[in-house]
Amino acid sequence: MTATPMPFGSEAESLPKEAFCEHLRQIATQYPVQFAADVYGPSGLLVVPAGMTFGPGFMAVLSQADWRDWMQSLSWPGLLTVDVLEADFRRLVLQDRALNVFAKQHGDLMDLQRLAAHFLDNPGLRVHLTLLKSQLPAVYDQALFTAWLGLVFMRHFKRNSGDPFNVFALALSHDFGMLYLPEQVVSRRQNITFARFSVLKHHVHYGYEVLKQLTRYSDEVLIALLEHHEQLDGTGYPQGKVGGRLSRLGHLMGFLDAINALYTKRLKPGGRSLRDLIPMIQMNGHSRFGIYGKKLIEWLKDLPESTVRAVPNVLMPFLIQAVRDRNTFISASLDVLDQIAKDLGFRHGEQTVFALQNAIIHINIAITQSGIINVAYMRWLDQVETEALIHAYREVEDVFFMMQEVIYHIGKLRFQIDCYLMGDRDSSEAYKLKRGLARLERIVLPTINPALEILWIASVR
Ligand SMILES: [Fe+2]
Repeated sequence: MTATPMPFGSEAESLPKEAFCEHLRQIATQYPVQFAADVYGPSGLLVVPAGMTFGPGFMAVLSQADWRDWMQSLSWPGLLTVDVLEADFRRLVLQDRALNVFAKQHGDLMDLQRLAAHFLDNPGLRVHLTLLKSQLPAVYDQALFTAWLGLVFMRHFKRNSGDPFNVFALALSHDFGMLYLPEQVVSRRQNITFARFSVLKHHVHYGYEVLKQLTRYSDEVLIALLEHHEQLDGTGYPQGKVGGRLSRLGHLMGFLDAINALYTKRLKPGGRSLRDLIPMIQMNGHSRFGIYGKKLIEWLKDLPESTVRAVPNVLMPFLIQAVRDRNTFISASLDVLDQIAKDLGFRHGEQTVFALQNAIIHINIAITQSGIINVAYMRWLDQVETEALIHAYREVEDVFFMMQEVIYHIGKLRFQIDCYLMGDRDSSEAYKLKRGLARLERIVLPTINPALEILWIASVR
């Protein structure tokens, strides 16, 4: 099948190779990175003879060479093999207690060898996955997690025999574009800013270019890669696609990424069960996760109840206070968001503004789904504290996590409004959003009592 034409017109970008070569240069300090075959330029001229070793200054040489050609030729002793990739999957899934419990019921790794061999059979993809593992290990683990969970989903949602490999290959390669971004942009230690986000979002196009140039993967896979940061409600990027315009595979890929993020950020540090994902999926369910969220909840309900706690009894009064403070923050933010939604109305014709309004609706739905951000619940919290109801402490922790999820979405929306306003707009909608954002920014996120700061729960964002 032919590759999809780049659907972004003037936004189409070819691959900048500087960051990628920097990764190679760093690898070359540990291993001899060789060109195993002759590398030619587009006019057929020999640029690098077989046997040469990659080193400083090669960037200029390689700019004259056919990129596909030198991707096929690169070789070093640390390149991933099928056995190593399979062992990494087993490490990720079987050495993690929560994933292991789930894997026993749903996620056997039986077909892994065949799929891994098929994927690594492409030398260029092999080079990229190896670089991802050594240079961006968190992105590598994310790729493996989503590939594994994606295969579990393919047992139930498979339409044709090629689906499992398509999902597997897409999951492993969907963030290859990160290898083409400067290191400081990719680093997860940094806060997201408009400037950083403007560069970061290019990884989608770069990843698409990698697959388009190195493989003969179907249009379905290439389009899904382009869509892995889109959202059903139009709040994603790069195109802000909505609902039915989002492909089945693109939607699945975004869902798998979101589940990985929820698990690794909110649950894994405290050794919590995958079952604890249920309330978070329910909160996001309708507008973001659709059918996949519903299916995963069905599976998670079969897992044993989790009893792991994050906060010792003696510190619970501080957590209860943190929950109360968060309730105040969320309620105040919600008042402003509802006012913004009312001010904007629906007579404007701007797709981005509709997406922001959808994000407000999403936050409202998440709060309703959670069933916790209301006066009655706060009264129950008072009772838990006064009567020291130890059996209810775990639920208080769950409430804290759910509130963090809502706060995350409020923060994301504030950021999206900020990005929209950076576009130097002069409409009445922009004026209303600017006024609303200023009111939102006056609501300060409560801090956590220092007594809780030694606990992992305090770092949950
Ligand atoms: Fe991504």
